Amino acid sequence: MLTDDQTRSLARQFGTPVWVMDAPTVRQRLASLQVFDAVRYAQKANPNVHLLRLLREGGAKVDAVSRGEALRALAAGYRDGSARAATLFEAAQADIVYTADLLDRETLDFVLTKGLVVNCGSIDMLRQLGERAPGHAVWLRLNPGFGHGHSKKTSTGGEHSKHGIWHADLGEALGVIQATGLRLVGLHMHIGSGVDYGHLGQVCRAMVDPVRQVKAAGLDLAAISAGGGLSIPYREGEPRIDPAHYFGLWDATRREAQALLGHGLRLEIEPGRYLVAEAGVLIAEVRAVKRQGRVPFVLVDAGFNELMRPAMYGAHHNMRLVSGDGRLLAGATPSAIAGPLCESGDVFTQGAGGVIELRALPQAAVGDFLVIENTGAYGSSMSSNYNSRPLAAEVLLDMDTTRLIRHRQSVEELLALELGN
Ligand code: LLP
Repeated sequence: MLTDDQTRSLARQFGTPVWVMDAPTVRQRLASLQVFDAVRYAQKANPNVHLLRLLREGGAKVDAVSRGEALRALAAGYRDGSARAATLFEAAQADIVYTADLLDRETLDFVLTKGLVVNCGSIDMLRQLGERAPGHAVWLRLNPGFGHGHSKKTSTGGEHSKHGIWHADLGEALGVIQATGLRLVGLHMHIGSGVDYGHLGQVCRAMVDPVRQVKAAGLDLAAISAGGGLSIPYREGEPRIDPAHYFGLWDATRREAQALLGHGLRLEIEPGRYLVAEAGVLIAEVRAVKRQGRVPFVLVDAGFNELMRPAMYGAHHNMRLVSGDGRLLAGATPSAIAGPLCESGDVFTQGAGGVIELRALPQAAVGDFLVIENTGAYGSSMSSNYNSRPLAAEVLLDMDTTRLIRHRQSVEELLALELGN
């Protein structure tokens, strides 16, 4: 996405580490999903308010999983209040849906005051909402009893997942909706099958019986949501999602559901990663090169406080070395790439379980730049202040404009949280 010259000049202009996002890539990914009635961006992937604005302008709706994310959506121009809309179909077109498995007390007040449609992953949420605000519009997030995911930590269905209302408890959930007078808008399932269309077919089929139960209970629906989980090719050769195929499978389910209910249903999709992952890179500078016995290490000025995915899931990210001085890079030295944190797990080249892996890179020198690719999703959004490292800057490229969309945090800002002023 970036030329070597661009990489050097961005690193020099904004300092390192720096996140760089490419707006046209995001727009292209969004456009590729326009066959769905709504693309609801799962902003946990990257909630920068400028990115939310860009997606809103492109016609995307948005998902929020915390009060903070909902406030970001509002700051980006998304509207609230749909939970009190006159009809189910209007409520189904809400700009913002709040998805969670629980509501803390402050957030319960917040969603009620703002009139945010809530996608409920537990029956207790339904009870708490229903007691306070009969008539509030809700979705039900279902756990169909099986999951999928690139690591145990990201599987979103089955007995070991805390997410969603267990499929066998749907009857009880519908009972609470009826007893409290909540309004059911839609059924939602986020399993994340990626390109595994056989598995996706199983997920789609698991949506039909719940629709039948809703009908049998005398309730209705205006929408179903396919959730997110559209994968991207992190490694060369990995397949790409075919949006038409993905849509076709869900559309068949939607039609079956429509036949059961006797009217049209909106079909939503809720991707995070697919929209933004490939649009982003993290640029770091090489600050030390050393050998630990037989293992060459390249140490850069970004750590897992910036990009947590390798340390947390053994996730793979492609990396590219760009010379700092314009010299021609040559050779392929298998090296471990690590960061500055005072923790041995601060290594970007590791497999699941923390086994250090080596990555063939040209011989690196201090002052070169490392570009860590496909980090637009769950990169910046999972960053922390570990080791009292301030959050890195974020830059948005849009054709020939370059814009700083988050300034680099300062240590003074961190200290002010503790010392005041
Ligand atoms: N909808 C719901 C209800 C979700 O829980 C998620 C992700 C998404 C949509 C978006 O999933 P996506 O399309 O981005 O795969 N930190 C992990 C990913 C955790 C995803 C959690 N839920 C990672 O870095 O891979």
